[in-house]
Amino acid sequence: MDKYEKLEKVGEGTYGKVYKAKEKTTGQLVALKKTRLEMDEEGVPPTALREVSLLQMLSQSLYVVRLLCVEHVDKKNTTTGISKPLLYLVFEYLDTDLKKFIDSHRKGSNPRPLPPSQVQCFLFQLLKGVSHCHSHGVLHRDLKPQNLLVDKDKGILKIADLGLGRSFTVPMKSYTHEIVTLWYRAPEVLLGSTHYSTGVDIWSVGCIFAEMVRRQALFPGDSEFQQLLHIFRLLGTPTDEQWPGVSSLRDWHVYPQWEAQNLARAVPSLGPDGVDLLSKMLKYDPAERISAKAALDHPYFDNLDKSQF
Ligand SMILES: Nc1ncnc2c1ncn2[C@@H]1O[C@H](COP(=O)(O)OP(=O)(O)O)[C@@H](O)[C@H]1O
Ligand SMILES: [Mg+2]
Repeated sequence: MDKYEKLEKVGEGTYGKVYKAKEKTTGQLVALKKTRLEMDEEGVPPTALREVSLLQMLSQSLYVVRLLCVEHVDKKNTTTGISKPLLYLVFEYLDTDLKKFIDSHRKGSNPRPLPPSQVQCFLFQLLKGVSHCHSHGVLHRDLKPQNLLVDKDKGILKIADLGLGRSFTVPMKSYTHEIVTLWYRAPEVLLGSTHYSTGVDIWSVGCIFAEMVRRQALFPGDSEFQQLLHIFRLLGTPTDEQWPGVSSLRDWHVYPQWEAQNLARAVPSLGPDGVDLLSKMLKYDPAERISAKAALDHPYFDNLDKSQF
């Protein structure tokens, strides 16, 4: 790690801090992220190796943050003298994340909406990144503004925090409920479905899309139950006709019966094409939800200059 000069802390990671650092020889800025991947006597466990190479492969996409290299460090405990090997992931550095970016447009000295062309351009890049992950059989499962990095000057958005251990080509585990942050969590996950798929990421993308337009979260629930009620109040309480099997999901209860509201009113500044795309991302039945690949071809993007991507 002597190759890097640690600068400030940029994030508090789930498994440790994320630091901005400078590679001494080249001056390149990087983000250093400590992982929970610990080595045993045999070295790096094969599962860890598989996850890291998957991450490296996914980061071939321009719309996924680039994993530059992996460093292993022997952290020596100063009192016991026992050293504990750790893996650090070294990523390209981007100046901000989408949460901070939206915040800067919402508060401070110069509150202003995100320009519609910027929302469109960010959403396109997000869908490119998601489509890339899905085509490699990987769900992100925790898409949220904090996990999307932004290069303000270049107008680039990249997916970050592709957590390790999330591939679904390896034997499928029963996913725990703690994975996806509440506000962006798909209803099938909230209702206890264990066999969910790519639709969970598309739901999150829809929530992020709406949030860029509103500069406020679409469904800011503070418990799983409240989260569902937020969703049901806007989209209507789902029925078995609309979403076959919903009332048989593990955590289904009896809920107040709400009619669907007009989605356009939740995103007043978004045009009809945008509202149509959003409604296709927020379909109750996961099987009906638009795919990332199909979303890229939606009329909402018709006036976008796609040659730049
Ligand atoms: N490559 C990077 N460049 C700049 N900031 C980053 C980078 N990676 C992470 N961050 C910042 O650190 C925060 C936490 O990083 P993340 O990878 O999401 O870890 P966690 O698993 O803790 O959520 C992010 O929300 C972002 O603000
Ligand atoms: Mg994160």
